[in-house]
Amino acid sequence: MHHSPLIGKYLKQLASLSTDKQAPVLDLACGSGRNGLYLIENAIPVTFADINAVALEQVQQHACVINNKQLTNFWSIDFEQEGATPLAGKSFAAIMVFRYLHRPLFEQIKEALLPNGIIIYETFTTAQVQFGRPRNPDFLLKPNELLEVFSGWEIIHSFEGIIESDSGSKQAIAQLVARKPSVNE
Ligand SMILES: C[S@@+](CC[C@H](N)C(=O)[O-])C[C@H]1O[C@@H](n2cnc3c(N)ncnc32)[C@H](O)[C@@H]1O
Repeated sequence: MHHSPLIGKYLKQLASLSTDKQAPVLDLACGSGRNGLYLIENAIPVTFADINAVALEQVQQHACVINNKQLTNFWSIDFEQEGATPLAGKSFAAIMVFRYLHRPLFEQIKEALLPNGIIIYETFTTAQVQFGRPRNPDFLLKPNELLEVFSGWEIIHSFEGIIESDSGSKQAIAQLVARKPSVNE
């Protein structure tokens, strides 16, 4: 279970943000929790959120092994409920979304980040159809889509292209790391 290299690259910033803001990082649609567990290994508090209760249970077991239970929070949630606004009223120092896309959440994600907070997003693009699943356009980012959604934010990192996964298969992905403006900007 490897965390994304992108998380490793921004570990220090995530640590200082979460300390400064006294707020956790949200691992949104965490699945196996590979990225959030890496953060708690590094003493950064994480809220693990997913619809899959079994996956959350397994993340909890891994968190116990790491022995940093006080840093973890588990949120069993369906982010796609019609008309619901699950992130409303919540605050995070950073939000990371890997391999998940539900466009109606974009505005809520932006709201739920504290000023100067960081979004780390990585998921498949429309170019993925040449390699396999997902094929549903609802789950595939259009060219420059993340840059447009987070326009006006400080872009720390942006990538769109083809990568090779650990197993050697090709994947078409977009990555974005961006900082929300402070309240005065
Ligand atoms: C491809 S996995 C990615 C998991 C993890 N982010 C990663 O990169 O390893 C997609 C995740 O989205 C979760 N998911 C799908 N629909 C969801 C929903 N409506 N609400 C919350 N989570 C959902 C699935 O349970 C699954 O864990």
